[in-house]
Order: sequence, then C-alpha cells, then structure tokens
Amino acid sequence: MSELISNIGELMTQDGDHGTLRDAAVVLEGERIAWIGPSADAPAADTRTDAQGRAVLPGWVDSHTHLIFAGDRTAEFEARMAGESYSAGGIAVSVEATRSAGDYELTRLGLGRVAEAVSQGTTYLETKTGYGLDVDNEARSARIASTVADEVTYLGAHLVPAGMDADEYTELVCTEMLDAVRPYVKWADVFCERGAFTAEQSRKVLTACRDAGLGLRVHGNQLGTGGGVKLAVEFAAASVDHVNFLTDDDVSRLAQSWSAWDGAANAGRGTGVRGTVATVLPACDLSTRVQLAPAKQLLEAGVQIAIASNCNPGTSYTSSMAFCVTTAVLQMGLSVDQAVRAATFGGALALGRESGLDEDGKRAVGTIAVGHRADLHMLKAPSATHLAYRPGIPLTAAVWRAGVREV
Ligand code: NIG
Repeated sequence: MSELISNIGELMTQDGDHGTLRDAAVVLEGERIAWIGPSADAPAADTRTDAQGRAVLPGWVDSHTHLIFAGDRTAEFEARMAGESYSAGGIAVSVEATRSAGDYELTRLGLGRVAEAVSQGTTYLETKTGYGLDVDNEARSARIASTVADEVTYLGAHLVPAGMDADEYTELVCTEMLDAVRPYVKWADVFCERGAFTAEQSRKVLTACRDAGLGLRVHGNQLGTGGGVKLAVEFAAASVDHVNFLTDDDVSRLAQSWSAWDGAANAGRGTGVRGTVATVLPACDLSTRVQLAPAKQLLEAGVQIAIASNCNPGTSYTSSMAFCVTTAVLQMGLSVDQAVRAATFGGALALGRESGLDEDGKRAVGTIAVGHRADLHMLKAPSATHLAYRPGIPLTAAVWRAGVREV
C-alpha cells in the first residue's frame, strides 16, 4: 500500500539533500519513504492525505528513557520543589515498587508510557533497565523492555542496592547480571556520579559490557564535574547523557571525538569516525532545578547533540519531546531548527540509526529521506516554529510510525 501526503506547508526533512521544503509532498510505501518533492509533482498513490498547509517533521527519536518501573515519587518531587536537592538515592523507592510489581503490570505500564509518547509525536524510542538491581529483576526488566521499546539499554549500574557492598555489586553487574540480560539488550549504560558509581567502578562496567559486545552510553556530569564525559569519550561511547556540569576539557574532548567525522557528507548524515553524542535532557534539568546543560556551547564547539525526554519517575516524569524542544529553544538558546534536529537526527545518531540499513535490517530513522523508515509527525501548525512560539499547546495533528498511521 502507498500513501501520498500532499499540500505540506513546511516539510522539515533534517536531511542534507532536501533541507526544509515548502508546498511539499511525501509518498510512503509500506514502512519506507518512497518519494519526496514538490506537491505539484507528486505521483499517484493508493491513498491520499491532505496536510492542508500544515508542517511535517521526522517523528521524534527519544534516545533516553527509563520506562520500566512501578510506583510513584510525587513526595520526592514535592520536597524538591520545596528546596531539597536531587540525589541518586531516590532510585531505591522505584526499585522497591518495581520488584513488587508483576510482569503483566510492568508491561502494561511500559506500553502505556510508549503510547503516551507516540501520541505526542515520538516514533522511535530507547528505554533502560535500572529499577531491578538484582539478577532476576534486571533480566525481567530487560525482557519486558524489549517488548515495548525499539532499543534496550542495560543499566544494572544505576544504584548500589541497599545492603550490598559497592564493589561486590559492581562485580555482579559485570558477570552474572550481564549474562542474564544479554539476550535482550543492545546497549549498556552506567550512572557515573556521586552517590551512584565511581569512575573506577564505571570503568569496570563499561569494559565488561564492551567485551560482551554491547554498545555503550554513560550517564555523566549530571550533578557535578565527575569523570563521566572523560570515560564516555575514552570508551567511544555512542552518547553521554545529562552533561550539565562540564569543564572546558570535557567540551574539547567531546568536540575532538567528532574531528574525524564529516557532518556535511552523505546528505548531512556524516561519514567517518563517529564521536560521542552529548545528550541534553531539558525536562530533567527543570524538574531537578540544576543548571541547564550548555547545549549551545556544545554545538558551537562542534559536538553533535541529542535532545531526549529522560522519562523516568524521579527526575523527569514526562515523555513530551515537544516540551523538551520548546525548552531547548526558549531557555537553552537553540534555534528551532537546531532543537528539532537534535530531537530527531541527533537521537538517531545517539542510537546509531541515522543512516542506511542497520546490521539487523532496520531502516534509518530521524530524517525524512527516500528509503528511510516512514516516521512522520504532522503539526497542527504551518511551521515548526510554532513549537516554541506556542509553548504548552498540544500541536500533534498526526503521527506515522513505520508507515502506519498511529494518531
Ligand atoms: O537519568 N540519573 C540517573 N537516572 C535517572 C534518574 C533516576 C531516578 O531518580 O529514578 C536520570 O535522571
């Protein structure tokens, strides 16, 4: 089946070949994008949708979420709004509730959160384990995550559970727990931060997970200038996420990691050695009242950035990528185009899904280009600028995910 979407007022492809087109059309064929061009030249298709002059963007690619959890942390949020600061210890509350929940309940909650994200324009999404923190519960979280999300990350190294020695737990994360989650996960992550894992423990986790064939990511520099960024670049991690507290050295390491990558080549998708994406999490920064990540400074230094929701019960209980994009424009100083790019192409880059067919046969996401997955987000507005111009207004008009109309 093919579908023609015509009369698009602004088609923001985020693809170097096409850029942003006016009066455009797109043809979807099954799960792929088959044609892009002026509306007047559009070929016939089995069905037709009239965009009535609205804007169409790539679906959001949310490269950082924690959706497999039960329970509620409203009290912790209220305490924070009354002046308490965030600490990693709150994770333990979600661990207890998650361990007590049955498989059906955890799956239902995870699917509900994904549906909420899709209803707001997210079409590709990563999620993590990290609220199990024992072998059985981490393996269970990984299995459930693999049924609800597009990409799954192992985050056994989220917090040392109560009653365990930190080094013994780190060893468990690197051995038996890693073996148990391995069939379900593609990535591994570590919370390298005061109150979570030291740089030395994080190094052990990254080494074991790399040796097990997993791609790497790091939660780094969220609460202070720890060693997260340094480790992430050293291990050629696909991303380092949070990046609120950066030294000049951190910024230049991240920039250096992209020095052998040609961002202008291959229709703007880049060729050469990929660096470490700096993923900024604007909703988390607001909800924890920490200084905003220096997204603009990173871009100006030549670092590729992603914007993600970090949907989780502790620091960022929202899956609204539109809210994150709006915040990035209004408060982090990005242009609308930079923010949309970071929330689409940037997320894809952080997940290694920005071009071609992956080794598992999946199509590229995050850009609107022929052959890429047909993931589209139509706004109830004539341009993407309205995301920032009309903050807080739900602007999703329609969503296609792998060619299927979801909204
Ligand atoms: O990305 N920083 C670590 N992990 C989550 C928060 C986890 C929690 O507090 O439940 C984050 O912000």
